[in-house]
Amino acid sequence: MQILVTGGAGYIGSHTCVELIKAGYQVVVVDNLCNSKISVLDRVATITGTSLPFIQIDLRDRESLEQVFSEYQFDAVIHFAGLKAVGESVAEPLRYYDNNVEGSLVLFQVMAAHGVKNLVFSSSATVYGDPATVPILEDFPLAATNPYGRSKLMIEEMLRDVATSDPAWCIALLRYFNPAGAHESGLIGEDPNDIPNNLFPYVAQVASGRRELLSVYGDDYPTIDGTGVRDYIHVVDLAIGHVKTLVRLLSKEAGVMAYNLGTGCGSSVLQMIQAFEQASGRRIPYRIVARRPGDIAVCFADASLAQRELNWRAERSIEQMCTDSWRWQAMSEDRFSFA
Ligand code: NAD
Ligand code: UD1
Repeated sequence: MQILVTGGAGYIGSHTCVELIKAGYQVVVVDNLCNSKISVLDRVATITGTSLPFIQIDLRDRESLEQVFSEYQFDAVIHFAGLKAVGESVAEPLRYYDNNVEGSLVLFQVMAAHGVKNLVFSSSATVYGDPATVPILEDFPLAATNPYGRSKLMIEEMLRDVATSDPAWCIALLRYFNPAGAHESGLIGEDPNDIPNNLFPYVAQVASGRRELLSVYGDDYPTIDGTGVRDYIHVVDLAIGHVKTLVRLLSKEAGVMAYNLGTGCGSSVLQMIQAFEQASGRRIPYRIVARRPGDIAVCFADASLAQRELNWRAERSIEQMCTDSWRWQAMSEDRFSFA
């Protein structure tokens, strides 16, 4: 089975390539490397012992994408490629709609033209906006609070229309909660180009000494210790979730399915700091600052649908996320000896 992975050089994409190859799939990656490095794919090859074809293109380059589809016979596409920084999307909405929505549109058109109608799409828990209750179920109302989230919602809606128009499409919308951690080899992980926006990479950089201090955004939420609560999921569990989804898709269940990929448990910012301190043996200096605009108090998944229908469940603990993330941070900075 041959799978096209868009954005396969990125954080979640690279881990998914590893799990796909381990499960016996042949993987082809397209990526424009706007937020990743080609060396990641060498590391995927080192981990798996298999090199994978890579074509550096932008999804909006229809002609080049057509060529890729002419060259390979894909059984399915896993579509990760997109921009993902919320703040940036507020500052540059047109760039986000152009890249995420237009890139997806061209991809789906080329897929349709080549009769490739099995698709796994990277959506996000952000499509639930500020949920009225937790845990969050897949049939909760959808809302977007920023252009990034709106681009995900637009793509979800586009895909629903596509499936309605042509019952040959099999589409899975995977709504990720908070991906964290790294591959246990320490060879691949999250490697943000700029100052990290998300908690996990920021904490890892404070632990390594690359950044001085973590700002904790608010300690007056109605949560266990006043700090925000999220559902952190190990990126390898997430990657395995894609393989399980593919198995279901390729069994030819037509239509659109949406699944939450989370653990079903929430952890606060202070709990995560403590877990990271234990895993790394380093102190994480922090100070409490004002709430970050747009943040919600609590967000965690009800992931029982994925368990029932995909036979998937997150298995790795917060401790493992911290240990793996720290190993990756330490190895990639090449400055610390890691026991
Ligand atoms: P990432 O930035 O590490 O990976 C995305 C990859 O897509 C990068 O390698 C980038 O170079 C590539 N890319 C972007 N635009 C492209 C284009 N037009 N053409 C070709 N390649 C392009 O991000 P990630 O964390 O691996 O996220 C993967 C997907 O999952 C994204 O769609 C993201 O929105 C979604 N998601 C991520 C998170 C998260 O916290 N990481 C949470 C929910 C959803
Ligand atoms: C963010 C995005 C969301 C996206 C998700 C996964 C925003 C507003 N939302 O969500 O759209 O789907 O990432 O990529 O960016 N925190 C700190 N200090 C920091 C960083 C974060 O205290 O330096 C806190 C936050 O307030 C939050 C928790 O840590 O309570 C997690 O934050 P983050 O990792 O950015 O994820 P989300 O806010 O869930």
